[in-house]
Amino acid sequence: MKSNQSNIKKAKNYLNKNYCIGVPTETVYGLAANAYIDSAVKKIFILKKRPKNNPLIVHYHNIDSLKEDCLINDNFIKLYKKFSPGPITYVLKLKKNSKISRYVTNNKKTLAVRFSKHTIFKNLLKQLNYPLAAPSANITTSVSAVKIKDVKEEFGNKIKYVLDGGVCTIGIESTIINLVGKPTILRLGGLDIAKIQKALRVKINLNINPKKKISPGQSHLHYSPGIPLRMNIAKPKKDEAFIVFKKQKTKLRNCFYLTTKNNLNDAAKNLYSCLRIIKNKGYKSIAIEKISNKGLGKTINDRLKRASEY
Ligand code: TXA
Ligand code: MG
Repeated sequence: MKSNQSNIKKAKNYLNKNYCIGVPTETVYGLAANAYIDSAVKKIFILKKRPKNNPLIVHYHNIDSLKEDCLINDNFIKLYKKFSPGPITYVLKLKKNSKISRYVTNNKKTLAVRFSKHTIFKNLLKQLNYPLAAPSANITTSVSAVKIKDVKEEFGNKIKYVLDGGVCTIGIESTIINLVGKPTILRLGGLDIAKIQKALRVKINLNINPKKKISPGQSHLHYSPGIPLRMNIAKPKKDEAFIVFKKQKTKLRNCFYLTTKNNLNDAAKNLYSCLRIIKNKGYKSIAIEKISNKGLGKTINDRLKRASEY
């Protein structure tokens, strides 16, 4: 606990000087900077090699701090009470007098906001008098980082500091819902959309189709391990890395598994690490067996589909 406090203090000092740092959340690690300062926000785009027109998620400590920048509505309150802090991001209307840097939103009138459940990150946000813009801590188009080592692999010494929060417990990005107008899912993520649907009691739209891009993160060029990936494969090719859902009794050659617990949440948690391990072992391609499309299986298949179009 003591070391966490001194780490949080270090993180705070860097952020106050407008540096970007790595931060842990329960979904994936973020690359964070003061969301109110143009020069700090610009650094995120440069480090991630992110197109300027792809807006960032802003992380708030609580609803009071959010209200300074955004207009809230009934659907937001319903979902916030049930799922925040947690793996859900809300797109809301920005207030005219909001202090959010225009670089965060690329001059858009909406803002994506999230409340993380991660204790260390929450503690950090509590001690700051500004919210943090934090996209996933990976170079654009590569897979997200789920532990401190992954963040270092992505950015090396280009960033000053990564706040250690252990391994992310969810391991896949948040679910994004647009709450401006009719509720619409913009990205599948760590919160099962069936739960959101149940809480809102209205049919929610799904707009995760990259052809009609509201969210540039819907682009197919995201979440790629950097080598070709084929889905729904029963028999892999000779030198291909083969990912199966659950641990097998006998270890097959070139075979990797997503879960020892035989459940989809655990598989989602391990997906990005598995892809990173395979790439780092020098494999040239990946085959993956058919994954069930229930619950977080939908999110896993969404990410694999995008990765497969690399
Ligand atoms: O779990 C997560 O959401 C992680 C952690 C760090 O919070 N963050 C994350 O950020 O995945 P990022 O930047 O990798 O993905 C954010 C997505 C992008 O696809 C972006 O286009 C979309 O959110 N987005 C941001 N602002 C938006 C807005 N105003 N309207 C629609 N989409 C927006
Ligand atoms: Mg990302």
